[in-house]
Amino acid sequence: MVNLAILISGRGSNMEAILNFAIKKKVVNPVIIISNNYDAAGIKIASKFGINIKILPNLKDRKMYDKKLEQILHKYNVTPKNGLICLAGFMRILGEGIIRKYKNRIMNIHPSLLPAFAGLGAQKQAIEYGVKYSGCTVHFVDGGIDTGPIILQDIVKIQDDDDHISLAKKILHKEHQIYPKAINLFATKKLIIDGRTVKINDSTLRN
Ligand code: GAR
Repeated sequence: MVNLAILISGRGSNMEAILNFAIKKKVVNPVIIISNNYDAAGIKIASKFGINIKILPNLKDRKMYDKKLEQILHKYNVTPKNGLICLAGFMRILGEGIIRKYKNRIMNIHPSLLPAFAGLGAQKQAIEYGVKYSGCTVHFVDGGIDTGPIILQDIVKIQDDDDHISLAKKILHKEHQIYPKAINLFATKKLIIDGRTVKINDSTLRN
C-alpha cells in the first residue's frame, strides 16, 4: 500500500477530508502529518485521528529544511518507491532536490483553475479579474509554483454577489471532493503520466 504523508500549515480541512477517505477506502496508509507551523489548527484535527504528527518549523536554509523533511519521510517509510506526499495548504516551497527524488509522488491542491491565478490569494485574484468560473486543481508538484502536471480539476460558478470569502468556501467544498479522488486514482494506479499530461484510466470518471 502507498504510505502517505500530508504536509499542512494551517486549518487542515483538506487533510481531514483525505484522512476520512483513507479510513474509508483503505487504499493508502496515512503514516505522518507534518506541519511547518506549531499553531496550525490542523494539528488538533490530526491528533483526533491518532496519527503521528511532526512539527518542522520553517528554516531559511531551504536545503537544510528539505533534508530534515526527507529524514522524517524516511523514518515513516514514505519513500520515492512507495510513498505519496500531499501538500494540503502547506505554505512553503519545496526545493528541487526533494521534488526530483519524489517525481510524480508529490501532489498539491490549489484553489483556482490552473494555470490561472497561481500563487497566493487565488480566490481574490479570480474575483478581482472578474472571471465567471473558477475552481480548484490537484496537480503533481514540479519545480515551479503551481505549474506541475494537472491531475483533476473541478469548477465553481461565480455569482455577481460573490466575494473572495464566499468563493473560497464554495471552492473548498470541491477541494474536499477532488483531493481524495486524485489520491485514490494514484493509489489504484489509474494515472498515466506522459510528460505534463496526466491521463486517467478509469471509465467511471468520463462524462
Ligand atoms: C486550501 O484552499 C488550499 O487550496 C490552499 O490553502 C487552503 C488550505 O486549507 N492552498 C493554496 O493556496 C496553495 N497554493 P486547509 O488547510 O483547510 O486544507
